[in-house]
Amino acid sequence: MKDEVLRFLDPKPGEDFVDCTVGEGGHALAVLEQNKPHGRVLGIDFDPDILKNLMLKVKNTGFEKRLILVCDNFVNLEVIAKKCGFQRVYGVLFDLGLSSWHLEESGRGFSFWKNEPLDMRYNPRQNTLTAAEIVNTWSLKDLERVLRIYGEERFARQIAKEIVKSRLLRTTVDLVMAVERATPSWYHRRRIHFATKTFQALRIAVNNELENLEKALPQALDILCSGGKLAVIAFHSLEDRIVKNFLKVKAKEGVMKILTKKPVRPSREEIAENPRARSAKLRVAVKV
Ligand SMILES: C[S@@+](CC[C@H](N)C(=O)[O-])C[C@H]1O[C@@H](n2cnc3c(N)ncnc32)[C@H](O)[C@@H]1O
Repeated sequence: MKDEVLRFLDPKPGEDFVDCTVGEGGHALAVLEQNKPHGRVLGIDFDPDILKNLMLKVKNTGFEKRLILVCDNFVNLEVIAKKCGFQRVYGVLFDLGLSSWHLEESGRGFSFWKNEPLDMRYNPRQNTLTAAEIVNTWSLKDLERVLRIYGEERFARQIAKEIVKSRLLRTTVDLVMAVERATPSWYHRRRIHFATKTFQALRIAVNNELENLEKALPQALDILCSGGKLAVIAFHSLEDRIVKNFLKVKAKEGVMKILTKKPVRPSREEIAENPRARSAKLRVAVKV
């Protein structure tokens, strides 16, 4: 939803922005195109490999001087921004979750279409908890809780039981097969893959995604100048609920004004080009 994000952020020459999930740089580079010649973007990503790819991509493009890249968790947003001299910014963007690169190239078990080790960490150097550890060592009760709460999976109990019974699970295929055995055949014929919610739940648990978002949103508000905008793209209802509630509370306090009464959804063309975008919801608010 690059065009929609740009329309709301509306970068002007000289303004500084923070992209908390810079990934492959799609949004950040588009902002740099508009805030030239002196505006900067602080690009944060917890994944060292995706950041390395982006560094190579921007080398010798002229953007590298105005794109400051930091490998860190956005849960540390305020400290990172302060260290890099981004204390009063015109916009903060979160494009949550994982990128296509994670699914297609990382080799870390994010995709149920691949046969890879059950890892699912954005940062294998700093995060010690893996999906393999969760499925192979957590109690039945904890597994069920993760699948129910983070996956909103109706067959959480059955899947958790089958996972415990199937130990040791080493790969994504082992996990997909366990989910298949635990769920009824009609569940396998739906448009959404039957392992989608299980994979989502494990990824959220491994990376502590919801708690990080809850802690980062107030920090984003703190580093915005008045008139600065907060834009968040969420990919599932759990994330979106956190964003929606945060903005509602801040609007009630008179600290922010919500610019998207209803979340903005991707265009039909974008969904056709990238089917994963179908569940994206963009919410934007301006600091008063
Ligand atoms: C949907 S992608 C962003 C794509 C990006 N907007 C682009 O245009 O290429 C989300 C990115 O956020 C990163 N990420 C996820 N959780 C994070 C966290 N807590 N702190 C920093 N980065 C995080 C992931 O590594 C991933 O690269």
